[in-house]
Amino acid sequence: MAEPLRFGFIGAGEIALQTARAVEASEHARLVAVSDANPELAKDLASRHGAAFEPTPDELIARADVDAVYIAVPHFLHLMLAQAAARGGKHVLLEKPAGATAEDAERVVRTARECGVTLSVPFIYRYAATWGRVRELVADGALGTLQGVRITYVHRKPDSYWEGGYSGRSRSDWRTRVLQAGGGVLIMNCIHEIDAVRWATGLEADSVFAEYGTFATQAEVEDRIGAVVQYRGGAVGVIEACSHAPGGAGPAGDGGQRIIGTTGQAVISGGKVWYYGEGDHRAAPAGRWAELPAPQERDARALLVDDYARALSVGEEPPIPDDAGLEAMKVVTAAYQSKRHRRAIRIEELFQRPVMAPRRTVG
Ligand SMILES: NC(=O)c1ccc[n+]([C@@H]2O[C@H](COP(=O)([O-])OP(=O)(O)OC[C@H]3O[C@@H](n4cnc5c(N)ncnc54)[C@H](O)[C@@H]3O)[C@@H](O)[C@H]2O)c1
Repeated sequence: MAEPLRFGFIGAGEIALQTARAVEASEHARLVAVSDANPELAKDLASRHGAAFEPTPDELIARADVDAVYIAVPHFLHLMLAQAAARGGKHVLLEKPAGATAEDAERVVRTARECGVTLSVPFIYRYAATWGRVRELVADGALGTLQGVRITYVHRKPDSYWEGGYSGRSRSDWRTRVLQAGGGVLIMNCIHEIDAVRWATGLEADSVFAEYGTFATQAEVEDRIGAVVQYRGGAVGVIEACSHAPGGAGPAGDGGQRIIGTTGQAVISGGKVWYYGEGDHRAAPAGRWAELPAPQERDARALLVDDYARALSVGEEPPIPDDAGLEAMKVVTAAYQSKRHRRAIRIEELFQRPVMAPRRTVG
């Protein structure tokens, strides 16, 4: 077997803990060093996995025994740290989003390519059994020609989320700040579904119109958004998200993620996949709704990290290509620009004039 991929982690907050467990579980990966602006968190994570503590990202990137750098920090730092890792000759596994704006994401991709290293964003839904099943249905033609998708995210995040995420491990209000997070529920949560739809259906966004606001929180970023996505070829998508709906999704659920074709539909809801088709398909007989045999749901993060490390350890490209993070960010940035310009924004417009990137004040 090839030598395991040696990871250095920049960021030892909430999600890094989970990713480190995934690294530990993979026979293809090893965690060798950790750095974080908060040294206590870095030391804590390093000690859990027998890794070294590095005082700064630069020192971590400079280590000869680091093959790939995993970056899990506030969004406005993604560009700077991903570029630093790439320029240091390291492969980059960059948490979503690929940048705080599409422009940042494009610069990250370009830098990685120029430096001859790989870049990948860990979109874990690509490893969820539900989305895998929907992808199979689309590939089999079981839905016919796609006419639309619906992405829903209706939750009630705890108030403490804004001061330290779900765990409170790293106390900071970066998630509330437009300049630091880049936005709210769309960039933070729906970006997963935006990528999953693209991966499962092959649909590419052409334009986005959005309205959003902040209603139930003191955050600067949006806690409610509605968007319409026009896909190339004509399919129409709808995104509806609310991160602070009283009572959350409630007993009726949020309606799930829905892919509608001309001859069939697929719905992901409550960890299940439902399918209706008008023609006979091995998934279900024609003309009735069926819950597809529940694929065993797996730890998507563990699968992703294992697959990524396996690929890189044998010199393959990462299973999630570098453009995935950029394409998802084009939809996000177009949505945010749409509200500012009060019109639909075409994806191809994004790079014809400067993307309205927040002025950076990173120290
Ligand atoms: N893929 C997923 O499902 C998923 C889930 C949660 C978070 N995330 C993403 O992971 C990233 C981190 O999120 P989180 O919830 O772990 O946040 P967090 O606030 O818990 O952790 C971020 C860490 O970055 C550190 N940090 C800040 N500035 C730094 C710097 N200049 N150098 C080094 N370290 C620095 C902080 O001290 C903190 O420990 C975000 O991009 C977030 O969107 C992804």
